[in-house]
Amino acid sequence: MPKRIRKAVFPVAGLGTRFLPATKANPKEMLPVVDKPLIQYAAEEAVKAGIETLVFVIGRTKRSIPDHFDKAYELETELEASGKADRLREVRNIVPDDVACVYLRQSEALGLGHAVLCAEPIVGDEPFAVILADDLIDDSSGDGCTSQMVAQYDQQVSSIVGVQRVPTDQTHRYGVVSSESVTDRLSRINGMVEKPSPEEAPSNLGVVGRYILNPGIFKKLRQTRPDAGGEIQLTDAIRALMADEPVFAYEFEGTRYDCGNKLGYLQANVEYGLKHPEFGDEFAEYLRNR
Ligand code: UTP
Repeated sequence: MPKRIRKAVFPVAGLGTRFLPATKANPKEMLPVVDKPLIQYAAEEAVKAGIETLVFVIGRTKRSIPDHFDKAYELETELEASGKADRLREVRNIVPDDVACVYLRQSEALGLGHAVLCAEPIVGDEPFAVILADDLIDDSSGDGCTSQMVAQYDQQVSSIVGVQRVPTDQTHRYGVVSSESVTDRLSRINGMVEKPSPEEAPSNLGVVGRYILNPGIFKKLRQTRPDAGGEIQLTDAIRALMADEPVFAYEFEGTRYDCGNKLGYLQANVEYGLKHPEFGDEFAEYLRNR
């Protein structure tokens, strides 16, 4: 029996320079898409996948994420007193009571790989998910991207990287994998190139912010040297892990919005606005007539 994926790591300690000034005092993962911060979409995706412990690796702007997931006594009392039952339910049910939230500090933004390594004392010797909340993945017809990846892990018992097909002229914005097909959506990775030009790209499968990793990744992260920019890259450690064990790429179902950049964020707001149960139709009408 493969070990269950019980923990998810949310690295939220990046500097978010592409989204300044909004990210000056707030992590980008707290930016709302319509009415929910990105980190809440990510937490809900994890809970749907059966995750029991949410591990947040927080940084410089350290307060708002724990505040968001904590109980807000004053606010709840106010909402209760004013009879706003729907709103009260929304703030109470951010994560179910049986899901634990753990907060760790990454005291310096030394890269995504370093942020994941910070979670080792909590994750321990078991496979775990990594979810980058600024990659918002809409899988409204299914159980979410992380659920799909957990199901793949249960079959392969190997680390899995989430990928999507990217336009040829966009490969320079992604880690791109070369891999051998196993099934329709699953392939075994044999190489990974960071931000290649269209000519250098080995495929059009770009790495997106969803991973299921075996705990062997921690040893590789400890051995990974910082890159030219001084950051420890998760991709470098995954490449090293591939020398010891198979690593797969999974082309998930769903639409991904890159909310770490302003255009992707605007697109997500339009799409989530259009399907909002309260005002989606009105918003569509507004867009048509403007
Ligand atoms: P990005 O590559 O998007 O970097 O990080 P960034 O610093 O957040 O944003 P830009 O490029 O300056 O605009 C990918 C993920 O890794 C986290 C980020 O919070 C994001 O979820 N991260 C990155 C950390 O937690 N720590 C780091 O040191 C770097």
